[in-house]
Amino acid sequence: MILVTGGAGYIGSHTCVELLNAGFNVTVFDNFCNSNPEALARVEQITGKKLELIQGDCRDRAALVAALKQSQAIAVIHFAGLKAVGESVEQPLWYYDNNVVGTLRLLEAMQECSVKTLVFSSSATVYGDPVQLPLTENHPLSPTSPYGRSKLMIEEILRDLQHSDHSFRISILRYFNPVGAHPSGLIGEDPQGVPNNLMPFVAQVAVGRREALNVWGNDYPTPDGTGVRDYIHVVDLALGHLKALEALKASQDAQANKYAGCLTVNLGTGRGYSVLDVVHAYEQASKRSIPCQIAPRRSGDIACFYADPGRAFELMGWQAKLGLEEMCASSWHWQSTNPKGYQS
Ligand code: NAD
Ligand code: UFG
Repeated sequence: MILVTGGAGYIGSHTCVELLNAGFNVTVFDNFCNSNPEALARVEQITGKKLELIQGDCRDRAALVAALKQSQAIAVIHFAGLKAVGESVEQPLWYYDNNVVGTLRLLEAMQECSVKTLVFSSSATVYGDPVQLPLTENHPLSPTSPYGRSKLMIEEILRDLQHSDHSFRISILRYFNPVGAHPSGLIGEDPQGVPNNLMPFVAQVAVGRREALNVWGNDYPTPDGTGVRDYIHVVDLALGHLKALEALKASQDAQANKYAGCLTVNLGTGRGYSVLDVVHAYEQASKRSIPCQIAPRRSGDIACFYADPGRAFELMGWQAKLGLEEMCASSWHWQSTNPKGYQS
């Protein structure tokens, strides 16, 4: 049994599908502050399997202890957290409370219940402005927002914990830019309000919910002047969590922690695409035109970053398989069949 915190969210729901398909039993622990229980009904529909749901908040240690005991979980995948960069600048205490305190309470509960295998959702945002590209895991860590710093603080806590207790098996996964949806079109990204991120905004323009995309700056030192990112298909990302669990299990079976600490890897494709590349690919996938207007740069944005995904391949045998075409096609399938997300 795997306990999945934040399992009703965008990446969590896709990971639950892959866990169930691989034969794991799954208990989701979520407070639904940024998700809809309908996502979990859809996960069951896709897989034809049942999962357990416990509604609760990660800052509630007693609820986590009860969930770990009730589920008899052997490992935790920890997605629960807040993720909007701009919001974290406006409300830093809320972000530190939810993300850092929520993770501390989870680790205390895991220690109490002797559950010592954890996969944690970190982010490429921990690197900050790149000194060198592609970004390797050894790149200096210098996040530029409270959100990013909350992820870095958690990473440090996890490293300290693993150092103090070698029986903890911890994987830190640094996601690049997750996009796309399950090929069934039944689950996908369902942002509340105006989407901050590029692909959900483009999707809403394509489906007619918004008029035009604001391209935040076309004067960056990139081939077409727009920002470049390493977009990764959410299904590839979900599969990365299964590979991380496997790698942690293998290290446990070998009675040796060959990672000398936490298994920390980038999950990206190694390829960068510009905003305009994404728009053009989405136009092809949706057969709709996406009106764009050039707007001033968004404060805090970085011109270009992409991963060196080599370590994830070397240590876990994981590699992204799906390209930009599949990312756009699956996003469009989800968006066009669920124009208002789970409320459609
Ligand atoms: P999401 O908002 O869709 O999912 C997060 C889930 O956690 C939601 O279901 C929410 O209700 C739940 N949650 C939040 N705070 C909680 C709490 N205190 N207790 C219980 N449940 C809580 O986000 P996502 O895109 O699926 O991201 C999952 C994780 O990956 C997050 O930790 C996020 O920071 C990280 N991440 C996301 C991205 C991205 O671009 N989507 C990139 C890098 C890292
Ligand atoms: N962009 C636009 N218009 C929009 C939205 C985005 O032009 O309406 C541009 C941005 O300027 C950037 C690119 O599209 O050049 C990607 O922007 P996103 O907001 O989709 O993604 P970011 O790289 O800014 O950040 C995301 C998450 C972070 C996470 C990071 C790496 O929001 O939390 O990916 O994982 F840390």
